[in-house]
Amino acid sequence: MGCLRCVFFFAFRNCDSSVLGVYFSTMCASFLIRSHFRSTLSKNAVLRRDITERQSHIIIRLLRTCVNVRKRGYIHSVGQYHNTGFRFNFYNSFSLSTRALTKLKVVLGIETSCDDTGAAIVNEHGHIIAEELHSQTATHNETGGIIPNVAKDLHTQNVETVVQRTLESANMRLQDLDAIAVTVKPGLIMSLRVGLHHAQKLAHMSNLQLIPIHHMEAHALTARMIGRIDFPFLVLLASGGHCLLAIARDIDDFLLLGTSLDTAPGEAYDKTARELNLIKMPQFCGMSGGAAIEHMAKYGDHMAFPRLHVMAQSASCNFSFTGIKMATRRQILAEYSKSGLPPDELLPNVADICAWFQYNVIYHLARRLQRAFIFVENAELIGDIKTLVVSGGVASNSYIRANLQHICSLYNYTLVCPPQKLCTDNGIMIAWNGIEKMLSGRNYLQSADSLDVVARAPFGVDISKSVTNTSIKLSKLKLLGEK
Ligand code: KG4
Ligand code: ZN
Repeated sequence: MGCLRCVFFFAFRNCDSSVLGVYFSTMCASFLIRSHFRSTLSKNAVLRRDITERQSHIIIRLLRTCVNVRKRGYIHSVGQYHNTGFRFNFYNSFSLSTRALTKLKVVLGIETSCDDTGAAIVNEHGHIIAEELHSQTATHNETGGIIPNVAKDLHTQNVETVVQRTLESANMRLQDLDAIAVTVKPGLIMSLRVGLHHAQKLAHMSNLQLIPIHHMEAHALTARMIGRIDFPFLVLLASGGHCLLAIARDIDDFLLLGTSLDTAPGEAYDKTARELNLIKMPQFCGMSGGAAIEHMAKYGDHMAFPRLHVMAQSASCNFSFTGIKMATRRQILAEYSKSGLPPDELLPNVADICAWFQYNVIYHLARRLQRAFIFVENAELIGDIKTLVVSGGVASNSYIRANLQHICSLYNYTLVCPPQKLCTDNGIMIAWNGIEKMLSGRNYLQSADSLDVVARAPFGVDISKSVTNTSIKLSKLKLLGEK
């Protein structure tokens, strides 16, 4: 056992300073532990419970060190290790990949711009080491929308736990990080402040620097964490606070083709869901209005009412969702008065209204996209590889995605949508944006005290007027299932 202890100390002492030391010591450890317990181990073995407390304690500490090292990217595979069962595979445990000799950057991301408290640790290969999210949706559903003070209080109550849990599940300390990325704009000012203040506190405790993050830029670039997407690409962001269409030319270089002139699509979804009393239904408890409408719309007919014509005369890529929201409200009121039902009951044709509402949303998005495809082609702003990235909460909607896929195939675009949990707000996208900024070679790192939050922030360079000036006329567009 003395021998084992030596190996542990050797591994521990060397792992910070020398990767080869870790390699050597872990190989030694592997060999020694294996020979020490040869009688009780086999491939994927479970250690017999008759080893002493002390022996198991030493092994676990050694393995923790190795697991930590792996998480930082030194060691490719540590096999399985569970705190409770001593289950691990020694034969795969300490293989070192060729990449392992370089230390990977690791960033903690903190997101509190709206109603989600998120934190995550991501490395430069886009590997999500740990993540935590506390959603406030259930509370805001009860109060009938986001009340900034309530959102702030909930962030304050949860941010410390969310970050702490992230570090714990990554089995990391602040000192293991390379930087802390934190959303500073745009968003609810009081909510943003909670995240920034917590990041500042952590930075002071650990001497780390902060990377300020633009929430919408983080949404736009999340897809690059999943797979290779080269610049330039087209990006559509549709969320509860924004709707914008842009060309991403670099991690900090965007050309804005169009944006919402009024309501964001997610806001229209949420309002409509409330007016339809959907979020009071037990099966939609804790769900966003958007997700509830998507679900209900599956059972409805999108042609139940005539299609709305939104900004049909405007040759721009700008959006407007207030018209759709108001027209849907009028339709809902008319249906209540026709049915004679009290306004807090569910309409019998609620599914039709949901389907019709969604259809109008996607039709409007599709027409703007159609114009953007033509504009960027004519202006030679996109290369031969044509990619459309779609993100933001509304982009997690399968009906919207399916129709976007359809439009993309008509214009030879590849559609890339991050997985649903990366479309809605989360800490992962903030950490990844921090990683991209660190790897860019430009200096985005700032001292903790130099940062402040901003409620409204522009997204890239606005060229929406150039789009309108080209007066692009659109050919007819048929969505999925239309003849
Ligand atoms: O991106 P996000 O999480 O937060 C903002 O930055 O706004 O987006 C939240 C919005 C909410 O309005 C929510 O109703 C909407 O995204 N949303 C959806 C769906 N899931 C969330 N909208 C349509 N369909 C969905 N499945
Ligand atoms: Zn968002």
